[in-house]
Amino acid sequence: MDAIILAGGQGKRMKSSLPKVLHTVLGEPILYYVVSAVRKVSRKGIYIIVGVGADDVKKWISGKFENHNIHFVLQKQQKGTGHAVMQAAPHRGKLSQDILVMCGDTPLLTAHTLKVLMRIHKKTKAHCTLLTARFENPSGYGRVLRDSRGQVQKIIEQADATPEEKCVKEINSSTYCFNRDALFSCLKEIKPQNRQNEFYLTDVVECMLKKGFTVEAYCVDDSREVPAINARADLAVASSEMKDRVLARHMLSGVTFVDPNLTTLDICVKIGKDTVIHPYCALRGGTHIGENCEIGPSCTIKDSRIRNKAIVLHSVLTESTVGDSARVGPFAHLRPGARIGKNVRVGNFVEIKNSAIEDYSTCAHLTYIGDSHIGKHVNVGAGTITCNYDGAQKHKTVIDDGAFIGSDTVLVAPVKIGKGAYTGAGSVITKDVPPYALSVARAQQKNVHGWAKKRKQSVNKNKKH
Ligand code: UD1
Ligand code: CA
Repeated sequence: MDAIILAGGQGKRMKSSLPKVLHTVLGEPILYYVVSAVRKVSRKGIYIIVGVGADDVKKWISGKFENHNIHFVLQKQQKGTGHAVMQAAPHRGKLSQDILVMCGDTPLLTAHTLKVLMRIHKKTKAHCTLLTARFENPSGYGRVLRDSRGQVQKIIEQADATPEEKCVKEINSSTYCFNRDALFSCLKEIKPQNRQNEFYLTDVVECMLKKGFTVEAYCVDDSREVPAINARADLAVASSEMKDRVLARHMLSGVTFVDPNLTTLDICVKIGKDTVIHPYCALRGGTHIGENCEIGPSCTIKDSRIRNKAIVLHSVLTESTVGDSARVGPFAHLRPGARIGKNVRVGNFVEIKNSAIEDYSTCAHLTYIGDSHIGKHVNVGAGTITCNYDGAQKHKTVIDDGAFIGSDTVLVAPVKIGKGAYTGAGSVITKDVPPYALSVARAQQKNVHGWAKKRKQSVNKNKKH
């Protein structure tokens, strides 16, 4: 089935300059979930109705779902959900006989539910099949009115409902399967004669019945899938529900969360089995953590790759990679382009940016490594700094395998430390150091014998005067 997704509204109740469908749940826009669910049940065309913030929505979708047979239809003015679907009329000839119509603000709906809805629609050969739900508190939703035989009669919006109608607990989820021709013929007839002066898509139901078309409804088993996001509080509820699902999925595949409530994680994060996530971790974006790792407490890890058996604690990592059995932290900062090899140790107050540190090297304390390549089995002493920036350009530091960088060495890039070479503690290295050499670049130590005693005597003399 082709699908039409309504995403043109402003989302007034969000009180935001960002289009509602681009607000995020577990790191991805609300619309991501809707498009992904549709994609799982159909490879056919998806027509997204865009309006408010159209350029932003298009840009985001095109970046995320390239070559996905997705088309955009502009709704210049937002005159209601019926008006939104009407904008797809010029594409009518290309659409499949049955179409799925849904809103871009229902991220919790699963592909499974869509599949069941589509199956029922096909099986009953209805012209319209509504997805409905029973809510203990149906406030804000359109109510599904049925006759004494249980046949759907119409949908009434909350704003237009009588007090009795408001007591109905079955609500319209705003997800439908329609027969294409029946839909477009009824859309032509709906009028904005209601409290909101909008063209309601929901009015199509009554119109269809009048014309002798058939309308069926499928009430979902799990009503937690249905809530739409209209305000920030809904966003928080949806995020929490989605997080429960994602945590459950990870736990089923063998991940331990020491305290799930104290873990934040985005939808696309991958975690291998037997990894333990300690409290206060935020795992973001496309982070991929291997097996048997110990992560946290207190780590923020974004778009990073952590390989098996690594340990990362109290650290911040962005667009970085950490090799097998490496140890990072506490209090390390791996910035974009930090590539840490196997069994490397990066300790406290170490910042690494756009640099590779090869296997078995150590960088244990108080260090800044930027734009560098550090070979294998290198020891970087405490307080080492690469001076990569001269105020205008960035320069590279290369430290070859087995080198030993003495504590408090300043490496003024561009500079190269040869294989197995040593630098003396406190050196300011401005020239390349040949392999296996020792380089000492600091003022020579001078001991002035008896100086302190003489000073004391002169101070005491001055005091007496
Ligand atoms: C709609 C339904 C209501 C249902 C509820 C379920 C109608 C009239 N009402 O109400 O029965 O219970 O969803 O969540 O359909 N949109 C456009 N263009 C517009 C107006 C809206 O593209 O001109 C899009 C919005 O971006 C949104 C979706 O349509 O994604 C639904 O619009 P919204 O205003 O949220 O509808 P509700 O009042 O929640
Ligand atoms: Ca809504």
